[in-house]
Amino acid sequence: MTKAYTLLEKLLFPPTLINTIKLEKELQGKNIIITGASSGIGEQLAVLLGEIDCHLILVARRKERLLQLQKQIKRAKISVFAGDLRDKVEMHHLISYIRTLDGKLDIIVNNAGISISRSIFDSLDRLHDFKRTMAINYFAPVELLLATIPILEGSHGQIINISTINTLLTPFPKFSAYQASKQAFDVWFQSVAPELNSKGIRTTSIYLPLVRTPMIEPTKKYINAPAMSPLHVAKIISKTMYTERKRFKPWWIIFGQVSSLLFRSVWERTSKVNIKKR
Ligand SMILES: NC(=O)c1ccc[n+]([C@@H]2O[C@H](COP(=O)([O-])OP(=O)(O)OC[C@H]3O[C@@H](n4cnc5c(N)ncnc54)[C@H](OP(=O)(O)O)[C@@H]3O)[C@@H](O)[C@H]2O)c1
Repeated sequence: MTKAYTLLEKLLFPPTLINTIKLEKELQGKNIIITGASSGIGEQLAVLLGEIDCHLILVARRKERLLQLQKQIKRAKISVFAGDLRDKVEMHHLISYIRTLDGKLDIIVNNAGISISRSIFDSLDRLHDFKRTMAINYFAPVELLLATIPILEGSHGQIINISTINTLLTPFPKFSAYQASKQAFDVWFQSVAPELNSKGIRTTSIYLPLVRTPMIEPTKKYINAPAMSPLHVAKIISKTMYTERKRFKPWWIIFGQVSSLLFRSVWERTSKVNIKKR
C-alpha cells in the first residue's frame, strides 16, 4: 500500500512537516476518537498518534484489526470499540462509553465511511446503496456529534471531518450515492461550525483528493491515477490538531473549481460521449 510518490504526485501533494514537540504537547493526556480506524486513513492516523502519550479510542466494525493495532501501538493508551455506527444499539453503546470519560473528550475524527461507484442504470433496484451510504457518511456522524457536542464544549474540543474534494467540484457520474452523502455531511458541518466555534469547539474540514487506501481498490481506473498516501493524510490531520487551521484543500483545487464553473457544459458534453463509449 505504501508506494513512493511519482514526480507528478510530489508536485500535487507537497510534503507535510509535523512539529512533533508541538503535537506531543497539544495531545498529551487527551482523549481522541478516530472512527474508521481499522484501515486506510484512520489506521495510519492511529499509528501516527500512537507515538504520543494520549488515549485513542478506535472505532470500526472489524474488531480483529483494531485489536491488532492495539497490540502494535506501544505508547498511547488504546481503547477498542468494535461496532457498526449505522446500528442504533451499537452507536448507543459508543455514546454510553464516551459518557464514562467524565467529560474528557477532546477530539473526534469523523473518518469512517464507504464509497460506491455504480452507474445509475445499475442502481435502479438498489435503493439500499443510497440508504447505506447516507447511514454511515451522514446520519452516523450527525448522531455521534449530537450526543458529544455538549462534552466537546466542556473540553473546548475539536471535530475533524474527513471530506472529499468532490464536494467542492462538479459531481462526477457513477458516484451519486457517495457524493450526495459526503456533500450532505459537509453542508451540515459547515452550517453548524460557526455556532460550535462560538462555544469554543474547533472545527476542521479536510478535503481530500484520491488517497491510496482499500476504498479505491475496486475502481480499476484509479490504479495508476495520482493519489496521496494515507500516511501523508494522517500527517495533515495531525497538524490541524496543534494549528488553528480550519480547512485543508489541495493547492490546485482552485483550478478544478474554476474549471467546474467555466467548462461545465463542455465537460458534460465530452463526458456524455465517454460514458456512451464504455
Ligand atoms: N480513499 C480516498 O480516495 C478518499 C478520498 C477522499 C475522502 N476519503 C474519505 O476518507 C475516509 C476514510 O476512507 P479510507 O480511504 O481510509 O477508506 P477505508 O480504508 O475503506 O476505511 C474506511 C473505514 O471506515 C470504517 N467503516 C465503514 N463502515 C463503517 C460502519 N458502518 N461502522 C463503523 N466503521 C465503518 C471501516 O472499518 P470496518 O470496515 O472495519 O467497519 C474502515 O476503517 C472516508 O470518510 C472517505 O470518504 C477517502
